[in-house]
Order: sequence, then C-alpha cells, then structure tokens
Amino acid sequence: MPTPEVRNVDPALIARAADWVATAERVVALTGAGVSAESGVPTFRGAGGFWRGRDLMELATPAAFARDPELVWSFYNDRRAKLATVEPNPAHRALVEIERRVPHFTLATQNVDRLHQRAGSRRVLELHGAIDEVRCSDCGRTSNRAGETLPALPRCDACGGLLRPGVVWFGESLPTGVFEQAEAEARAADVVLVIGTSALVYPAASLARLGRRVVEVNPDATPLSSEVTLSLRGKAGEIVPQLVPRTP
Ligand code: OAD
Repeated sequence: MPTPEVRNVDPALIARAADWVATAERVVALTGAGVSAESGVPTFRGAGGFWRGRDLMELATPAAFARDPELVWSFYNDRRAKLATVEPNPAHRALVEIERRVPHFTLATQNVDRLHQRAGSRRVLELHGAIDEVRCSDCGRTSNRAGETLPALPRCDACGGLLRPGVVWFGESLPTGVFEQAEAEARAADVVLVIGTSALVYPAASLARLGRRVVEVNPDATPLSSEVTLSLRGKAGEIVPQLVPRTP
C-alpha cells in the first residue's frame, strides 16, 4: 500500500481523488455508520454510541439476545422507528451518481439501515444484514418486515419461535458469500472509497486494505488513515458529492 499523501480537505486533493474515480474502470465503496450520520442515524462508536446509557456494543451480541431478548428488541425497535423518520443524505445520493457513471461499481456497506437502497443504489452488498429483515431463531425462516411496528417479542408466523433482527452480531459469521464477493471486487478495484467507518470491525475493515488506490473519507483519524493512498478529513455529505465524475 502506498504512503498516505495527506490528511485534510484541500480541494486539490479532493480533485485528485475525483480524477481517480472518473478514470477508474472498477470502483468499490465501503461504507459505515458515518455515511448515515448526516441523516441523523447515530454511529456506534464515539458520541451518540449509547442507548439508554448502554454501550451499543453490549447489545449487538448473541449473548445479549439470549440473556434479555426484550431489551435487545427494544433497542432494535427504537432503531427501526428512528429509521422510519430519516432520509438519505447527499453522500448516499452521490454514491448513486457514482454508480451510474463508473463502468463497474460495487457498494459494500456495514450499515443495516438500507438508506443506500432508498437513495437508489442498486448493487449493494450488505455485509452486516439489514434491520428490515427478521429471522426465526428456531426455524431460520427470514422475512422482510420493513415499516412495521413489531411487538416487544415478535414471533415467527410459521413455527411460533422467537424472531431476531436480521443483522450480524459480534461473534457471528457474515451472510454466506457476501463478504467473499465484496473481497473479490475490492481486490480488482482501481479505487476503493472507504466512507464513514471506524475500520475497527473485521472482516469488513480488511476490504479497506485492498484495491490499487484507497481513499478514506472521515472527519476523524482511524487506524486506516496512515495506510491509505489519500485520507480526506471531512464529512461524507460534503466530500462524496465532489467525487462524482462530471461526465453525463
Ligand atoms: P462506527 O460508529 O464504529 O464509526 C463511524 C465512523 O464514522 C467514525 O470513524 C466517525 O469518525 C465517522 N463519521 C462520523 N460522522 C461522519 C460523517 N458525517 N461523515 C463521514 N464519517 C463520519 O461505525 P462503523 O465503522 O460502521 O456492526 O462500525 C462498524 C460496525 O460496528 C457496524 O456495522 C456495527 C458495529 O458493531 C454490527 O452491528 C455487526
């Protein structure tokens, strides 16, 4: 991986990254909670990474669900309700435009909020599942329950088993094949855009170390910042729209 060139939002650097995107055949964007921050969705880490005084990390585990499913559902039901009130932001929309203009574009997201799809992104790999989906803890049946208000302890229509959110928790495997597909795309990419992620959660974060050039967009430093080709320190909603190729 080349040495990082800078860490600020000098317009010349944004222009350089935009040029890489405009001339690329293959681009991958890896997104994290920060891409939805400007829509009003709280991130996991840092300020706002708490829910009723609890560290979000403590809720996103199979052990937490086994111990207190009602508490975990209460968190996810709150999050589902919150998501019903938010909209995609300029960063989500810019990624739709990039997808339209780059010959081969893949969006790999760690987010479970489906804001990319709501903005219009088409080729989206959901590394950590989706909060719209539920899965039966007993029979494994999955279903899409987007927009519904679920009971405190939702039950499976087929077998009566306890439903769980269709998201990946700490210690669980990613959905079969999804990470592998993202990895193959990132490996072949001319540019990997790493947007709004603390790059701490694996294997997703390993995608940010693939690709010929890696451009990070984040207002704060991350463990990746010193390794990437270009680290643009700024908000996704301000920077990503400037990376959209100008071609029609
Ligand atoms: P984090 O909450 O760990 O990190 C969010 C990142 O977004 C931080 O690096 C912030 O600096 C950055 N950020 C904040 N506002 C931003 C903005 N306006 N524009 C750009 N960046 C901004 O979220 P993730 O990296 O997504 O997994 O977390 C990874 C995974 O950890 C999540 O998918 C979730 C969580 O546990 C599971 O639930 C399995």
